[in-house]
Amino acid sequence: MSNYENTLRLDGWSTTLVFAWNDGIPVVIYHGEKLQSGIDLGVLADIHARPFTQASLDDNSPISLHPELGRGFLGHPGLIGHRVKSDKPGWAGQFVFARRIDREHGVTFGMIDAVRGMEMEIVCDLDPETDVAVFATELFNVGDSPVSVDWLSAPVVVPAQQYSQHLSFHGRWCAEFQIERQPIPMGLTKRENRRGRTSHEAFPGLILLNAKTDDESGPCLGMHLGWSGNHRIVLERLSTGDVQVQMGALLFSGEGMIKPKQSMKTPSIYVAHSSNGLNALSQKFHHHVRKNILKFPVPDKPRPVTVNTWEALYFDHDHSRLCALVDAAADIGAERFVLDDGWFRGRNDDTSSLGDWYPDETKYPNGLGPLAEYVQSKGLDFGLWIEPEMINEKSELFQKHPDWVLGLNSYPNMTGRNQLVLDIANPLVSDYIFETIAPLIENHQIKYLKWDMNRDLVLPGDQSGRANVYNQTGALYALMDRFLKAFPTLEIESCASGGGRVDYGVLAHTHRFWTSDSNDSVERARIQTGFSHFFPPELMGAHIGPAWSHTSGRGLHAGFRALVASYGHMGIEADLTKMSDEDREIMRDAVTRHKQDRAIWHTGKFYRVRTVDYGLIGALSVSVALDQARMVLMQLERPRSTIPPRIRVPGLNKSAVYKVRIQTMTEQVKKANRSFPNPIFNGGFELTGAALETVGLGLPSLYAQTGLAISIEQVGEQ
Ligand code: DGJ
Repeated sequence: MSNYENTLRLDGWSTTLVFAWNDGIPVVIYHGEKLQSGIDLGVLADIHARPFTQASLDDNSPISLHPELGRGFLGHPGLIGHRVKSDKPGWAGQFVFARRIDREHGVTFGMIDAVRGMEMEIVCDLDPETDVAVFATELFNVGDSPVSVDWLSAPVVVPAQQYSQHLSFHGRWCAEFQIERQPIPMGLTKRENRRGRTSHEAFPGLILLNAKTDDESGPCLGMHLGWSGNHRIVLERLSTGDVQVQMGALLFSGEGMIKPKQSMKTPSIYVAHSSNGLNALSQKFHHHVRKNILKFPVPDKPRPVTVNTWEALYFDHDHSRLCALVDAAADIGAERFVLDDGWFRGRNDDTSSLGDWYPDETKYPNGLGPLAEYVQSKGLDFGLWIEPEMINEKSELFQKHPDWVLGLNSYPNMTGRNQLVLDIANPLVSDYIFETIAPLIENHQIKYLKWDMNRDLVLPGDQSGRANVYNQTGALYALMDRFLKAFPTLEIESCASGGGRVDYGVLAHTHRFWTSDSNDSVERARIQTGFSHFFPPELMGAHIGPAWSHTSGRGLHAGFRALVASYGHMGIEADLTKMSDEDREIMRDAVTRHKQDRAIWHTGKFYRVRTVDYGLIGALSVSVALDQARMVLMQLERPRSTIPPRIRVPGLNKSAVYKVRIQTMTEQVKKANRSFPNPIFNGGFELTGAALETVGLGLPSLYAQTGLAISIEQVGEQ
């Protein structure tokens, strides 16, 4: 008899997922490399049978999509909760398989626990083009008393035992997306984020891999929770050898209350498998983001080169200085001008005025109109910074509505950057925000909002004192959607002191991330490398900052700063009016080159380039037609050797012949090489895609904090 009576497979272009079940919640018995089409799933289910060992229970079920104690699973359960105000506590039970609804590329499984009065739906769709599976769980309360949920995991990812390590992404302000590679330890590891936003510290993503997996080879399984509030990741290796990963919203006490006839749905978890290393995994996530999540109002519009006022002017807004910056922006070819913090009533530093979304009468006596019109007259889009979820005690809004703030009864509230947080789940509050900001958008044809969020949430209670982060997160998405619906051509950037709110949840409502407040290119290059595991370059706000970084105190040459920003969604955030002519020329060249190349970076296949020299990293993008590629190489630290390692170029058409040449290099590269009799340094050379992949490029010697950009263009066929 078969181990399981029922099986179902879903296929992507290179991945297969196989589910199996009897009377309980289905189990994923396979998630990996695509299987042959005719394979007998019954046999696959049979060979999934597990040995019964001594001193174990007499039932031996593997981990299901929602593991239950009641079915003998002794690890971390998928649901922790109970029924309140009832004589049936319902703290554990057994869900029974009830139904399956098939879609062309997906399935919904329905389960019932009649004793507990609960139903569960598990939804899975595997996109056949992107190879990314998207799962979510919904729990329905069909009883007549409330259910209090402490933990509801998104469907549980159960890799087979072939992974021994995991990559996690941690960080802090100005150091987002730091990568840590560790063994999967025995027992249970939890990563929790209680900051009320996605956080710099605990990105909700994880990649399982084995010791030999690198960017270009080896198996790996990546997962990401699309959620911008608190979250928890559970990674557990049991004594059976089973490994499970659970991801879900972290609920404060009372946040997970499901009233009778209501339900609670987890955020989606996005899962992809690659047999060919981390670059191929990232490409699947990038493809999925481009195809299914990101919705640009004008789909094919190139990402506009941006000039942002923050590190140029900070709070010092003066009409003539701003106009001079607009002139300089237009002169070097910028396409969008974003007026950052400092424009609204009384806002001269970060101690006051959040909430008072009216142009400051001293700085803008005639409102934002004259500046907006000036920007537009120069052919640039006008964008505006806002931080709508926040309020300063020193503001007119706080005087009127101190009760709109998140807090907890009479406990003293804690400020962060001098500000408190508004309860945007209260419709009065979200109406106020919309009604004060919408007229500005309408009257000044604002095409872009930089939507900032600059503090962690502490004691986030609503007016009745209930914990409110979960609702606040949903209210944020709804408020963003309200703006997008009212202004269909508007774009929104998600910023939270840099990259504190970067995830697929908020991305469904936004169009760009402010990757980090660090414009220090040495730090930035590594942050961008981490970011690229889940996000494509066109989402990566990347600005050329001032010569001296105010967040790190490091000084860097203009050419290097421009190089590191050149492969994202590029911008300039420095006072162009005060730059030397030489540096302004570097900006102009960088903008011109970015405009020529951005289609390759923003639509092509992205590869991280890593070398045996930890300090030498790069980024490569190969166009969809494989006829063009661009590579940026960045020497972040003093090189380990005088002669750099060869750089292999993956992903080209093997039989095509390409012309390879240096597009640009920072000034100091010439100084580091007395001479370099290599054709790459002297006009370029031609070679096949196959040879470029296997033999690679020889590079000039590189000083620390220098680099070069390489263009690879098809010139023929072999
Ligand atoms: C934090 C952001 O990350 C910065 O880019 C800038 O917008 C400041 N806030 C303004 O207060």
